[in-house]
Amino acid sequence: QSTTEIDISAIQPGQAIKTTFRKQPLFVRNLTPKEIAEADAVNVGSLRDPQTLEERTKTGKKNWLITLGVCTHLGCVPLGAGEGENKGPFGGYFCPCHGSAYDTAGRIRQGPAPQNLHVPDYVFTSDTVVTVG
Ligand code: FES
Repeated sequence: QSTTEIDISAIQPGQAIKTTFRKQPLFVRNLTPKEIAEADAVNVGSLRDPQTLEERTKTGKKNWLITLGVCTHLGCVPLGAGEGENKGPFGGYFCPCHGSAYDTAGRIRQGPAPQNLHVPDYVFTSDTVVTVG
């Protein structure tokens, strides 16, 4: 089992990067206060895959959303991690293959995907480094 170290120091609020973890795309996103508020405003009970943003992030690090960049429908790579890309109608990620839309917590909100974008095992090894796996 290999781990991947990611330097997150250059990722500004509102930005997301696409990197790789065990040959799969991995998204690392620094949420803005507005994006956090949007995620928190959702009635969790109404969600297809009910989870809070807290459950999908680390304590005290709620702005760091780290997920696989793999749509839970049929595995395409959603858009939204990178400048100018389509974040979709819920402001998170958008899968162009069959139109699954994810919110700012990476939760499925519209389209055929059955589950939220998966959160891998990871730890903050410092304020600026995350070790995934
Ligand atoms: Fe993403 Fe089908 S693979 S919507």
